[in-house]
Amino acid sequence: MQPYSTTTTDTLDPEVHFQAKVDAEIRIEPKDWMPEAYRKTLIRQISQHAHSEIVGMLPEGNWITRAPSLRRKQILLAKVQDEGGHGLYLYAAAETLGVGRDQLLADLHSGKAKYSSIFNYPTLNWADIGAIGWLVDGAAIMNQIPLCRCSYGPYARAMQRICKEESFHQRQGFELLLSLSRGTEAQKAMAQDAINRWYWPSVMMFGPSDNDSAHSAQSMKWKIKRFSNDELRQRFVDMIAEQIKTLGLVVPDPELKWNEARGHYDFGPINWDEFWNVVNGNGPCNRQRLRARVDAYDKGAWVREAAAAYAEKRKQ
Ligand SMILES: [Fe+2]
Ligand SMILES: [Fe+2]
Repeated sequence: MQPYSTTTTDTLDPEVHFQAKVDAEIRIEPKDWMPEAYRKTLIRQISQHAHSEIVGMLPEGNWITRAPSLRRKQILLAKVQDEGGHGLYLYAAAETLGVGRDQLLADLHSGKAKYSSIFNYPTLNWADIGAIGWLVDGAAIMNQIPLCRCSYGPYARAMQRICKEESFHQRQGFELLLSLSRGTEAQKAMAQDAINRWYWPSVMMFGPSDNDSAHSAQSMKWKIKRFSNDELRQRFVDMIAEQIKTLGLVVPDPELKWNEARGHYDFGPINWDEFWNVVNGNGPCNRQRLRARVDAYDKGAWVREAAAAYAEKRKQ
C-alpha cells in the first residue's frame, strides 16, 4: 500500500501522481516518471553544482605548492581532492537524468552552463585559503544540508556524503584563520584582509533575493529546494556573526547588528550590481577559470582515448 492518498493514485494523470509522491516525501528515482521541467531543472542545478566543485579546485589549487608547512599542504591537498570527488558524484547523479558527461562539460566550456560565481574571485594571500574554507564552504553547507532531503534520490544521496566532507572543509578554514588571528600583527592583518574580500561574495552565494529568483517557487513545490535564498542567507549571517567573535576579527559590514525582536542579525545592503556583473562573465577571473578548465580537458584527451581503446580491447 502506498502511504499517500488513494484519491490521487486512482487518477491516471502522471503529474498528479508525481506531485502526490513528492508531497508524501517519497523519493523520485531515475526510472520513475517525472515532468520534463523537473528533469531539466535538476540537470541544470546538479550540473551547475558539479561544475562549481571542479572550478572551485582552481583558486585553492593555486596555493598547494605555496602552503606554509607540510601539515597545511596535506590538509589543502586533501580538501582540493575532496572537491574533485564531489564533482564526480554530482556528474554521476546528473547522468541518471539521461544527459551525458560530454554534453555537460561541453556546456561548461562553451559558457552555456554556469558555476558558482564565488570562484571567479582571486586568491591573493595565504589567508584566503582559510577564508574560503570558513566562509565559502560554510555558505555551501547552509545551502547543501537541505539538499540531503531533495526529492530526487541520486542527488539527495550524493549530498549526504558531500556534506560530511564540507563540514571538515569549513573547520579547517576556521582553524587556519584562528592560527593567523593569534599570530603576529602582520598575520592578523592578512586574515582580516582575506575576510574583507570574501565576506560579501559569500553572502551573495545564496543567490538573488526571493523576490528576484526565477526558479524558487517551483523548486520549493517539487521539494528540490526546502528554504528560500533569503532564509538561508540569514542563517549564514547569524552563524558567521557569532563565530567571528572567536577570531577577534570583524566582518566588513558596519550595519551588522543583533536584532532582539527578530532574533536575528540585521545586515547591510548587498551590492547586486556586483553580483550580476560576475554572473554575467565580468568578474575578476571568469576568463582565466574557464580557460583553465578547457585546457585541462584538452590535455586529458589522450587519457580518455587510451582508456576507451583499452576498454575496446578487453571487450574483444
Ligand atoms: Fe565540495
Ligand atoms: Fe568544500
